[in-house]
Amino acid sequence: MLIKNARLVLENGEEALRDILVLEGKIAEISQEIGIEDAIKKIFKDNTHLVRMDYLDLEGRYLIPGIVDPHVHMRDPGLTHKESATTGSMACAKGGVTTFVDMPNTIPATITEEVLEDKRGIFKNKTYVDYGFHFGAAGDNNSQEIKNVKNIASTKVFLNISTGKMMVENDEILNEIFSESKIVSVHAEEDMVKKAISLSRKNKNELYLCHLSLAEEVEDLKKAKAEGMKIYGEVTPHHLFLNTSHRDENEESKKLLIMKPELKSGDDNECLWEALNNGIIDTVGTDHAPHLLSEKMEKTTFGIPGVEHSLEMMLRGLKEGKMSMKRLIEVMSENPAKIFNIKNKGKIKVGYDADFVELDMDQERIIEREEVVSKCGWSPYEGLKTGGTVLTTIVRGEIVYKNGNFKNKIGREVEFNG
Ligand code: DOR
Ligand code: ZN
Ligand code: ZN
Repeated sequence: MLIKNARLVLENGEEALRDILVLEGKIAEISQEIGIEDAIKKIFKDNTHLVRMDYLDLEGRYLIPGIVDPHVHMRDPGLTHKESATTGSMACAKGGVTTFVDMPNTIPATITEEVLEDKRGIFKNKTYVDYGFHFGAAGDNNSQEIKNVKNIASTKVFLNISTGKMMVENDEILNEIFSESKIVSVHAEEDMVKKAISLSRKNKNELYLCHLSLAEEVEDLKKAKAEGMKIYGEVTPHHLFLNTSHRDENEESKKLLIMKPELKSGDDNECLWEALNNGIIDTVGTDHAPHLLSEKMEKTTFGIPGVEHSLEMMLRGLKEGKMSMKRLIEVMSENPAKIFNIKNKGKIKVGYDADFVELDMDQERIIEREEVVSKCGWSPYEGLKTGGTVLTTIVRGEIVYKNGNFKNKIGREVEFNG
Protein backbone atom coordinates (compact mmCIF):
# COMPACT_ATOMS: atom_id res chain seq x y z
CA MET A 1 0.00 0.00 0.00
CA LEU A 2 1.18 3.49 -0.86
CA ILE A 3 -0.45 6.49 0.80
CA LYS A 4 0.35 9.92 -0.61
CA ASN A 5 -0.09 13.41 0.85
CA ALA A 6 -1.33 12.40 4.28
CA ARG A 7 -1.54 15.10 6.94
CA LEU A 8 0.26 13.64 9.98
CA VAL A 9 0.83 14.97 13.46
CA LEU A 10 4.58 14.49 13.88
CA GLU A 11 6.30 13.53 17.16
CA ASN A 12 7.25 17.18 17.74
CA GLY A 13 3.58 18.12 17.51
CA GLU A 14 3.84 19.83 14.14
CA GLU A 15 1.67 18.83 11.23
CA ALA A 16 3.12 17.96 7.84
CA LEU A 17 2.23 16.14 4.61
CA ARG A 18 3.93 12.78 4.27
CA ASP A 19 3.89 9.68 2.05
CA ILE A 20 3.70 6.26 3.70
CA LEU A 21 4.77 2.88 2.35
CA VAL A 22 3.19 -0.21 3.89
CA LEU A 23 4.80 -3.61 3.46
CA GLU A 24 3.18 -6.77 4.77
CA GLY A 25 0.81 -4.89 7.03
CA LYS A 26 3.54 -2.83 8.71
CA ILE A 27 4.63 0.77 8.24
CA ALA A 28 7.85 0.45 6.23
CA GLU A 29 8.65 4.06 5.41
CA ILE A 30 7.39 7.56 6.16
CA SER A 31 8.92 10.35 4.11
CA GLN A 32 8.25 13.59 2.27
CA GLU A 33 8.10 11.88 -1.10
CA ILE A 34 7.82 8.22 -2.07
CA GLY A 35 7.54 7.72 -5.84
CA ILE A 36 5.07 5.23 -7.29
CA GLU A 37 7.80 3.42 -9.24
CA ASP A 38 9.84 3.11 -6.10
CA ALA A 39 6.87 1.79 -4.11
CA ILE A 40 6.04 -0.78 -6.80
CA LYS A 41 9.62 -2.03 -6.78
CA LYS A 42 9.67 -2.41 -3.00
CA ILE A 43 6.20 -3.93 -2.70
CA PHE A 44 6.62 -6.55 -5.44
CA LYS A 45 10.31 -7.30 -4.91
CA ASP A 46 10.04 -10.39 -2.74
CA ASN A 47 6.32 -10.82 -3.17
CA THR A 48 5.71 -12.33 -6.57
CA HIS A 49 2.35 -13.62 -5.32
CA LEU A 50 0.96 -10.08 -5.01
CA VAL A 51 -1.30 -8.89 -7.82
CA ARG A 52 -2.16 -5.39 -6.78
CA MET A 53 -1.01 -2.43 -4.75
CA ASP A 54 -3.48 -0.19 -2.92
CA TYR A 55 -2.86 3.46 -3.75
CA LEU A 56 -4.48 6.31 -1.82
CA ASP A 57 -3.93 10.01 -2.41
CA LEU A 58 -5.21 11.84 0.67
CA GLU A 59 -4.75 15.31 -0.87
CA GLY A 60 -3.83 16.77 2.50
CA ARG A 61 -6.51 15.12 4.61
CA TYR A 62 -5.61 13.84 8.09
CA LEU A 63 -4.33 10.32 8.59
CA ILE A 64 -4.29 9.39 12.27
CA PRO A 65 -3.38 6.12 14.01
CA GLY A 66 -6.34 3.75 14.23
CA ILE A 67 -8.31 4.28 17.42
CA VAL A 68 -7.62 1.76 20.20
CA ASP A 69 -10.74 1.39 22.35
CA PRO A 70 -9.75 -0.35 25.58
CA HIS A 71 -13.29 -0.75 26.91
CA VAL A 72 -16.12 -2.35 24.94
CA HIS A 73 -18.83 -4.93 25.62
CA MET A 74 -19.40 -6.82 22.35
CA ARG A 75 -21.96 -9.23 23.91
CA ASP A 76 -20.50 -12.31 22.23
CA PRO A 77 -21.21 -15.01 23.35
CA GLY A 78 -24.63 -15.16 24.96
CA LEU A 79 -26.15 -11.77 24.27
CA THR A 80 -25.80 -11.61 20.50
CA HIS A 81 -29.30 -10.23 20.01
CA LYS A 82 -27.75 -6.93 21.25
CA GLU A 83 -24.40 -7.10 19.37
CA SER A 84 -21.95 -9.69 18.09
CA ALA A 85 -18.24 -9.80 17.36
CA THR A 86 -19.08 -9.07 13.71
CA THR A 87 -21.64 -6.27 14.15
CA GLY A 88 -19.63 -4.66 16.94
CA SER A 89 -16.54 -4.69 14.75
CA MET A 90 -18.52 -3.08 11.90
CA ALA A 91 -19.46 -0.26 14.25
CA CYS A 92 -15.75 -0.01 15.13
CA ALA A 93 -14.63 0.09 11.48
CA LYS A 94 -17.18 2.82 10.70
CA GLY A 95 -16.03 4.81 13.71
CA GLY A 96 -12.30 4.51 13.01
CA VAL A 97 -11.62 2.02 15.83
CA THR A 98 -9.02 -0.48 14.56
CA THR A 99 -8.46 -2.33 17.86
CA PHE A 100 -10.97 -2.97 20.64
CA VAL A 101 -10.57 -4.72 23.97
CA ASP A 102 -13.62 -6.71 25.04
CA MET A 103 -14.98 -6.91 28.57
CA PRO A 104 -15.78 -10.21 30.35
CA ASN A 105 -19.46 -9.76 31.31
CA THR A 106 -20.74 -11.98 28.52
CA ILE A 107 -22.68 -15.25 29.01
CA PRO A 108 -20.80 -17.26 30.14
CA ALA A 109 -18.56 -14.67 31.79
CA THR A 110 -14.88 -14.70 30.76
CA ILE A 111 -13.65 -15.90 34.16
CA THR A 112 -12.00 -19.22 33.25
CA GLU A 113 -9.32 -20.06 30.72
CA GLU A 114 -11.73 -22.47 29.08
CA VAL A 115 -14.35 -19.78 28.49
CA LEU A 116 -11.66 -17.43 27.20
CA GLU A 117 -10.50 -20.08 24.71
CA ASP A 118 -14.10 -20.52 23.52
CA LYS A 119 -14.41 -16.76 23.13
CA ARG A 120 -11.22 -16.73 21.06
CA GLY A 121 -12.78 -19.33 18.78
CA ILE A 122 -15.99 -17.31 18.47
CA PHE A 123 -14.16 -14.09 17.46
CA LYS A 124 -11.74 -15.75 15.05
CA ASN A 125 -12.31 -14.68 11.42
CA LYS A 126 -15.47 -12.82 12.46
CA THR A 127 -14.28 -9.23 12.87
CA TYR A 128 -13.31 -6.34 10.61
CA VAL A 129 -10.81 -4.96 13.12
CA ASP A 130 -8.29 -6.33 15.62
CA TYR A 131 -9.24 -7.17 19.20
CA GLY A 132 -8.06 -8.35 22.57
CA PHE A 133 -9.73 -9.46 25.79
CA HIS A 134 -9.92 -8.46 29.43
CA PHE A 135 -10.23 -11.39 31.87
CA GLY A 136 -12.90 -11.19 34.56
CA ALA A 137 -12.50 -11.47 38.32
CA ALA A 138 -15.03 -13.85 39.88
CA GLY A 139 -16.81 -13.34 43.20
CA ASP A 140 -15.97 -16.92 44.23
CA ASN A 141 -12.25 -16.28 43.68
CA ASN A 142 -10.61 -17.29 40.40
CA SER A 143 -7.16 -15.96 41.35
CA GLN A 144 -5.48 -19.21 40.18
CA GLU A 145 -6.99 -18.78 36.73
CA ILE A 146 -5.87 -15.13 36.79
CA LYS A 147 -2.35 -16.23 37.64
CA ASN A 148 -2.17 -18.65 34.69
CA VAL A 149 -4.10 -16.89 31.94
CA LYS A 150 -2.09 -15.71 28.90
CA ASN A 151 -2.35 -12.79 26.48
CA ILE A 152 -4.99 -10.68 28.15
CA ALA A 153 -5.16 -6.91 28.64
CA SER A 154 -5.98 -6.88 32.35
CA THR A 155 -8.11 -8.39 35.10
CA LYS A 156 -11.46 -6.59 35.10
CA VAL A 157 -12.95 -6.15 38.55
CA PHE A 158 -16.48 -4.87 39.15
CA LEU A 159 -16.67 -3.10 42.52
CA ASN A 160 -20.21 -1.83 41.89
CA ILE A 161 -23.41 -3.42 40.60
CA SER A 162 -23.70 -3.27 36.83
CA THR A 163 -24.91 -5.33 33.84
CA GLY A 164 -24.06 -8.99 34.54
CA LYS A 165 -23.53 -10.46 37.99
CA MET A 166 -19.81 -9.87 38.34
CA MET A 167 -19.45 -7.73 41.44
CA VAL A 168 -16.72 -8.89 43.84
CA GLU A 169 -17.43 -7.91 47.46
CA ASN A 170 -15.30 -10.11 49.69
CA ASP A 171 -12.20 -8.19 50.82
CA GLU A 172 -9.93 -11.24 51.12
CA ILE A 173 -10.86 -12.43 47.66
CA LEU A 174 -10.35 -8.93 46.25
CA ASN A 175 -6.92 -8.83 47.81
CA GLU A 176 -5.94 -12.16 46.23
CA ILE A 177 -7.26 -11.09 42.86
CA PHE A 178 -5.24 -7.87 43.00
CA SER A 179 -2.13 -9.72 44.12
CA GLU A 180 -2.28 -12.12 41.13
CA SER A 181 -2.95 -9.37 38.54
CA LYS A 182 -0.26 -7.32 36.83
CA ILE A 183 -2.85 -4.74 35.92
CA VAL A 184 -6.41 -4.42 37.18
CA SER A 185 -9.14 -2.48 35.37
CA VAL A 186 -11.91 -1.48 37.72
CA HIS A 187 -15.49 -0.45 37.45
CA ALA A 188 -15.42 1.70 40.58
CA GLU A 189 -17.68 4.61 41.40
CA GLU A 190 -17.20 7.27 44.11
CA ASP A 191 -15.91 5.60 47.32
CA MET A 192 -15.08 2.42 45.42
CA VAL A 193 -12.41 4.41 43.54
CA LYS A 194 -10.70 4.96 46.90
CA LYS A 195 -11.02 1.27 47.72
CA ALA A 196 -9.49 0.24 44.36
CA ILE A 197 -6.59 2.64 44.90
CA SER A 198 -5.84 1.26 48.35
CA LEU A 199 -5.95 -2.35 47.07
CA SER A 200 -3.56 -1.46 44.26
CA ARG A 201 -1.22 0.45 46.60
CA LYS A 202 -1.06 -2.55 48.93
CA ASN A 203 -0.44 -5.07 46.15
CA LYS A 204 1.90 -2.81 44.17
CA ASN A 205 0.25 -3.52 40.83
CA GLU A 206 -1.04 -1.24 38.09
CA LEU A 207 -4.56 0.15 38.22
CA TYR A 208 -6.78 1.38 35.38
CA LEU A 209 -9.81 3.34 36.53
CA CYS A 210 -12.59 2.88 33.97
CA HIS A 211 -15.06 5.62 33.07
CA LEU A 212 -14.31 8.37 35.61
CA SER A 213 -17.32 10.65 35.77
CA LEU A 214 -17.01 12.87 38.85
CA ALA A 215 -14.68 15.72 39.83
CA GLU A 216 -14.06 13.94 43.16
CA GLU A 217 -12.87 10.74 41.44
CA VAL A 218 -10.46 12.77 39.31
CA GLU A 219 -9.06 14.25 42.53
CA ASP A 220 -8.40 10.74 43.90
CA LEU A 221 -6.60 9.80 40.69
CA LYS A 222 -4.53 12.97 40.78
CA LYS A 223 -3.38 12.29 44.36
CA ALA A 224 -2.48 8.66 43.60
CA LYS A 225 -0.44 9.77 40.58
CA ALA A 226 1.37 12.33 42.72
CA GLU A 227 2.25 9.51 45.15
CA GLY A 228 3.98 7.72 42.27
CA MET A 229 1.47 4.92 41.82
CA LYS A 230 1.16 3.30 38.40
CA ILE A 231 -2.42 4.38 37.94
CA TYR A 232 -4.36 5.47 34.87
CA GLY A 233 -7.74 7.06 34.27
CA GLU A 234 -10.26 6.67 31.48
CA VAL A 235 -13.15 8.89 30.45
CA THR A 236 -15.99 8.04 28.06
CA PRO A 237 -17.17 10.43 25.34
CA HIS A 238 -20.64 10.39 26.93
CA HIS A 239 -19.33 11.68 30.24
CA LEU A 240 -17.57 14.47 28.34
CA PHE A 241 -20.41 15.52 26.02
CA LEU A 242 -23.61 14.60 27.86
CA ASN A 243 -24.99 15.46 31.28
CA THR A 244 -28.22 15.14 33.25
CA SER A 245 -29.82 17.96 31.27
CA HIS A 246 -29.54 15.87 28.06
CA ARG A 247 -30.95 12.86 29.87
CA ASP A 248 -33.90 14.78 31.27
CA GLU A 249 -34.87 16.37 27.94
CA ASN A 250 -37.82 14.03 27.21
CA GLU A 251 -39.41 10.69 28.10
CA GLU A 252 -37.31 8.74 25.59
CA SER A 253 -33.97 10.26 26.57
CA LYS A 254 -34.76 9.58 30.24
CA LYS A 255 -34.76 5.86 29.39
CA LEU A 256 -32.01 5.77 26.77
CA LEU A 257 -29.35 7.87 28.49
CA ILE A 258 -29.07 5.56 31.49
CA MET A 259 -25.77 3.85 32.20
CA LYS A 260 -23.31 3.03 35.00
CA PRO A 261 -21.79 5.36 36.01
CA GLU A 262 -24.72 7.66 35.31
CA LEU A 263 -24.44 11.02 33.55
CA LYS A 264 -23.38 13.81 35.89
CA SER A 265 -23.50 17.64 35.80
CA GLY A 266 -22.23 20.12 33.23
CA ASP A 267 -19.55 21.11 35.79
CA ASP A 268 -18.34 17.51 35.84
CA ASN A 269 -18.15 17.57 32.01
CA GLU A 270 -15.84 20.60 32.25
CA CYS A 271 -13.69 19.04 34.96
CA LEU A 272 -13.26 15.87 32.90
CA TRP A 273 -12.22 17.85 29.81
CA GLU A 274 -9.65 19.70 31.87
CA ALA A 275 -8.25 16.48 33.40
CA LEU A 276 -8.08 14.89 29.95
CA ASN A 277 -6.10 17.84 28.62
CA ASN A 278 -3.72 18.24 31.53
CA GLY A 279 -2.70 14.57 31.64
CA ILE A 280 -4.52 13.44 34.80
CA ILE A 281 -6.89 11.36 32.67
CA ASP A 282 -4.95 9.20 30.20
CA THR A 283 -7.44 7.62 27.82
CA VAL A 284 -10.80 7.82 26.14
CA GLY A 285 -12.64 4.48 26.19
CA THR A 286 -16.24 4.23 25.09
CA ASP A 287 -17.70 1.60 27.44
CA HIS A 288 -19.63 0.54 24.31
CA ALA A 289 -22.53 -1.25 26.01
CA PRO A 290 -25.26 -1.89 23.43
CA HIS A 291 -28.81 -2.80 24.41
CA LEU A 292 -31.81 -2.89 22.06
CA LEU A 293 -34.18 0.09 22.03
CA SER A 294 -37.00 -2.20 23.16
CA GLU A 295 -34.93 -3.37 26.15
CA LYS A 296 -34.11 0.22 27.10
CA MET A 297 -37.74 1.32 26.87
CA GLU A 298 -39.21 -1.65 28.76
CA LYS A 299 -37.21 -1.38 31.97
CA THR A 300 -34.18 0.32 33.48
CA THR A 301 -31.24 -1.04 31.47
CA PHE A 302 -27.74 0.30 32.04
CA GLY A 303 -25.49 0.97 29.07
CA ILE A 304 -25.25 2.87 25.78
CA PRO A 305 -23.36 2.18 22.54
CA GLY A 306 -20.21 4.19 21.77
CA VAL A 307 -17.61 2.91 19.27
CA GLU A 308 -19.42 4.10 16.17
CA HIS A 309 -19.25 7.79 17.03
CA SER A 310 -16.50 8.22 19.63
CA LEU A 311 -13.89 9.59 17.24
CA GLU A 312 -16.28 11.79 15.27
CA MET A 313 -17.61 13.22 18.54
CA MET A 314 -14.10 13.85 19.86
CA LEU A 315 -13.45 15.71 16.59
CA ARG A 316 -16.41 17.89 17.62
CA GLY A 317 -14.53 18.61 20.84
CA LEU A 318 -11.47 19.50 18.80
CA LYS A 319 -13.47 21.90 16.60
CA GLU A 320 -14.86 23.54 19.75
CA GLY A 321 -11.31 24.16 20.96
CA LYS A 322 -11.56 21.63 23.79
CA MET A 323 -8.46 19.66 22.71
CA SER A 324 -5.73 19.45 20.09
CA MET A 325 -5.34 16.73 17.44
CA LYS A 326 -2.08 15.74 19.12
CA ARG A 327 -3.82 15.13 22.46
CA LEU A 328 -6.73 13.35 20.77
CA ILE A 329 -4.28 10.87 19.21
CA GLU A 330 -2.53 10.37 22.56
CA VAL A 331 -5.69 9.62 24.50
CA MET A 332 -7.50 7.60 21.83
CA SER A 333 -4.62 5.58 20.28
CA GLU A 334 -1.21 5.92 21.83
CA ASN A 335 -2.02 5.71 25.55
CA PRO A 336 -4.50 2.82 25.45
CA ALA A 337 -1.97 0.78 23.43
CA LYS A 338 0.87 1.75 25.79
CA ILE A 339 -0.98 1.18 29.08
CA PHE A 340 -2.16 -2.32 28.09
CA ASN A 341 1.11 -3.14 26.27
CA ILE A 342 -0.56 -3.89 22.96
CA LYS A 343 2.18 -4.86 20.54
CA ASN A 344 2.80 -2.57 17.54
CA LYS A 345 -0.40 -0.52 17.94
CA GLY A 346 -1.21 3.12 18.58
CA LYS A 347 1.36 5.08 16.56
CA ILE A 348 2.16 6.00 12.99
CA LYS A 349 5.77 4.95 13.20
CA VAL A 350 8.05 2.68 11.17
CA GLY A 351 7.66 -0.94 12.37
CA TYR A 352 4.18 -0.42 13.82
CA ASP A 353 1.05 -2.03 12.35
CA ALA A 354 -0.41 -0.01 9.48
CA ASP A 355 -3.66 0.83 11.30
CA PHE A 356 -4.98 4.18 10.07
CA VAL A 357 -8.03 6.39 9.85
CA GLU A 358 -8.49 8.90 7.04
CA LEU A 359 -10.59 11.86 8.16
CA ASP A 360 -12.57 14.44 6.26
CA MET A 361 -12.64 17.39 8.64
CA ASP A 362 -14.90 19.41 6.31
CA GLN A 363 -17.66 16.83 6.30
CA GLU A 364 -19.57 17.51 9.50
CA ARG A 365 -22.92 15.78 9.80
CA ILE A 366 -25.85 15.35 12.16
CA ILE A 367 -25.85 11.83 13.60
CA GLU A 368 -29.05 9.97 12.74
CA ARG A 369 -30.56 6.70 13.96
CA GLU A 370 -30.85 5.45 10.35
CA GLU A 371 -27.06 5.40 9.88
CA VAL A 372 -26.32 3.15 12.87
CA VAL A 373 -24.70 -0.22 12.04
CA SER A 374 -24.40 -1.49 15.62
CA LYS A 375 -27.03 -4.18 16.14
CA CYS A 376 -28.62 -2.14 18.95
CA GLY A 377 -29.88 0.28 16.28
CA TRP A 378 -29.52 3.63 18.05
CA SER A 379 -26.95 6.15 19.24
CA PRO A 380 -26.83 8.44 22.28
CA TYR A 381 -25.49 11.15 19.96
CA GLU A 382 -28.47 11.30 17.59
CA GLY A 383 -29.19 14.91 16.66
CA LEU A 384 -25.67 16.08 17.54
CA LYS A 385 -23.17 17.31 14.98
CA THR A 386 -19.90 15.49 14.37
CA GLY A 387 -16.63 17.40 14.01
CA GLY A 388 -15.72 15.45 10.86
CA THR A 389 -16.26 12.12 9.16
CA VAL A 390 -14.30 8.87 9.03
CA LEU A 391 -13.68 8.24 5.32
CA THR A 392 -11.42 5.18 5.38
CA THR A 393 -10.37 2.70 8.08
CA ILE A 394 -7.28 0.60 7.47
CA VAL A 395 -6.16 -2.42 9.53
CA ARG A 396 -2.63 -3.77 8.98
CA GLY A 397 -2.54 -2.26 5.51
CA GLU A 398 -5.99 -3.53 4.42
CA ILE A 399 -8.93 -1.24 3.81
CA VAL A 400 -11.74 -2.56 6.02
CA TYR A 401 -14.14 0.37 5.62
CA LYS A 402 -14.45 3.07 2.99
CA ASN A 403 -17.24 5.56 2.30
CA GLY A 404 -19.97 3.50 3.95
CA ASN A 405 -18.79 0.13 2.62
CA PHE A 406 -17.29 -2.72 4.63
CA LYS A 407 -14.53 -4.77 2.97
CA ASN A 408 -12.73 -7.67 4.64
CA LYS A 409 -13.15 -9.47 7.95
CA ILE A 410 -9.42 -9.56 8.49
CA GLY A 411 -9.44 -8.75 12.22
CA ARG A 412 -7.35 -10.90 14.52
CA GLU A 413 -6.35 -11.08 18.17
CA VAL A 414 -3.61 -8.68 19.24
CA GLU A 415 -0.54 -9.60 21.23
CA PHE A 416 0.11 -8.12 24.64
CA ASN A 417 3.78 -7.69 25.44
CA GLY A 418 4.66 -9.55 28.66
O1 DOR B 1 -23.83 0.96 31.93
C1 DOR B 1 -23.11 -0.03 31.91
N1 DOR B 1 -23.33 -1.04 31.07
N2 DOR B 1 -22.07 -0.09 32.75
C2 DOR B 1 -21.33 -1.19 32.88
O2 DOR B 1 -20.42 -1.19 33.67
C3 DOR B 1 -21.63 -2.40 32.08
C4 DOR B 1 -22.37 -2.06 30.89
C5 DOR B 1 -23.01 -3.22 30.20
O3 DOR B 1 -22.34 -4.25 30.03
O4 DOR B 1 -24.18 -3.10 29.79
ZN1 ZN C 1 -18.16 -0.26 34.01
ZN1 ZN D 1 -17.97 -1.26 30.82
